[in-house]
Amino acid sequence: MKFFADTAEVKDIKELNDLGLLDGITTNPSLIAKSGRQIKEVIKEICDIVPGPVSAEVASTNFDGMMAEAAVLRRIADNVVIKVPLTLDGLKACKRLSGEGTKVNVTLCFSANQALLAAKAGATYISPFIGRLDDIDLEGMDLIRDIRTIYDNYAFTTEILAASIRSPNHVTQAALAGADVATIPPAVIKKLADHPLTKAGLEAFVKDWAGTGQSII
Ligand code: E4P
Repeated sequence: MKFFADTAEVKDIKELNDLGLLDGITTNPSLIAKSGRQIKEVIKEICDIVPGPVSAEVASTNFDGMMAEAAVLRRIADNVVIKVPLTLDGLKACKRLSGEGTKVNVTLCFSANQALLAAKAGATYISPFIGRLDDIDLEGMDLIRDIRTIYDNYAFTTEILAASIRSPNHVTQAALAGADVATIPPAVIKKLADHPLTKAGLEAFVKDWAGTGQSII
């Protein structure tokens, strides 16, 4: 499963990229707002750091506006993926953009039928929002499983990008459900390496090693 970082914070992106753990980045209007930066400037900076796909979301909600904004965003760098909302206008933009060879991430997916439409519109990625479904007492991960089955039934190549991931358990469950990608907040990516037995085991190794008086180098 590929790991994308779900953030517009350049400092976090640099740190994760240096660890070699990043396959790409997703942003959305809320994350850009949180960064306090201009979208074109921050997307360019991210694309200069990460060679993988970087999703930049349109702000317009109508087809013409989305197409005009997509033209600006895709000029920023070759690895920009245009993110459009799962609406009829967004699907129309997805179909047009993907027909022109532009990669498209269709976002705000909350049902299997929406995911089916996105695949038919030629989406490169579909973003089902796990955490937000859990927030309303639905089982977000069921949606990933349903989309996996449907895409496999028809050999759709649209990649399932598990979004709105809130915890390490979400990452595990998304991987078990067959998501192609998980987009994960940086803090959750870092938590994936934690285990109390790893911590305790390493402390014991360090103590025992010190007792030997040896040095490897
Ligand atoms: C990513 O593409 C989504 O916009 C993001 O994962 C949404 O996460 P949230 O529901 O935690 O805001």
